[in-house]
Amino acid sequence: MRKVKVLAGTMILLLGFTGIAFVSEKNKEEVAIPEEPQGVVYYESEDFGGPEIVYAKPVRGVLFSHKYHVGELGLPCESCHNSIFEMQALKSQENPDFNMEALYKGKYCGACHNGESAFASNTKCATCHIGVKGLREYMKKLAEKEKK
Ligand code: HEC
Ligand code: HEC
Ligand code: HEC
Repeated sequence: MRKVKVLAGTMILLLGFTGIAFVSEKNKEEVAIPEEPQGVVYYESEDFGGPEIVYAKPVRGVLFSHKYHVGELGLPCESCHNSIFEMQALKSQENPDFNMEALYKGKYCGACHNGESAFASNTKCATCHIGVKGLREYMKKLAEKEKK
């Protein structure tokens, strides 16, 4: 049952990827996403130290949540800062090796998402990959917050 779920997740993800490539190559105007999204940095609350971050490169969109890792899991800041990540949102996506291969080698998220400290990076794809829909939801949230 679990395996089936993971497989289904991968399929949806792959369909999503090919869809994006297809649409963006064919006709940029058809894409409802404003400009080229660089990612989203959204502060749910200052209580969690850092924001909710949705990466947009190389693929849209991967969620990293301070609310979850700090607020719910109670991980100390030092477990990530600054040995794994700098305190600068979206900094990692400037690196050419911010990809799955690096994660599988234990870099970035893969330092914990290795099947020991946390679920492995080659499982539960859709848990990290919230996709274009997820990215849009955070863009909307951010726009609404900025209006206030
Ligand atoms: C599980 C890992 C993890 C933990 C624990 C963690 N962070 Fe982060 N933090 C990140 C990641 C990932 C980024 C984005 C870095 C990147 O994109 O290269 C980040 C970025 C930040 C930023 C930059 C935000 C911005 O607007 O540019 C701040 C500030 C921050 N963290 C504060 C904290 C504080 C304070 C704590 C402890 C209360 C904490 N973080 C705990 C992973 C973590
Ligand atoms: C310091 C260790 C650490 C790092 C680094 C880390 N995580 Fe996690 N993460 C955890 C732990 C522990 C859990 C909870 C255990 C589990 O679900 O296996 C978790 C859970 C999650 C979840 C599940 C959230 C939910 O709602 O169920 C997601 C998604 C996630 N991490 C994404 C990321 C991403 C993306 C990165 C890199 C940008 C990252 N994590 C980096 C430790 C880490
Ligand atoms: C622990 C979180 C996490 C999990 C689980 C995860 N990814 Fe990723 N993935 C990332 C991050 C972080 C990036 C780099 C940022 C970006 O592209 O937005 C990335 C990038 C990618 C990329 C583009 C870069 C590359 O390596 O080609 C693909 C494709 C990808 N993931 C596929 C998958 C598939 C398929 C699965 C499941 C088998 C999966 N990911 C599971 C976090 C995760």
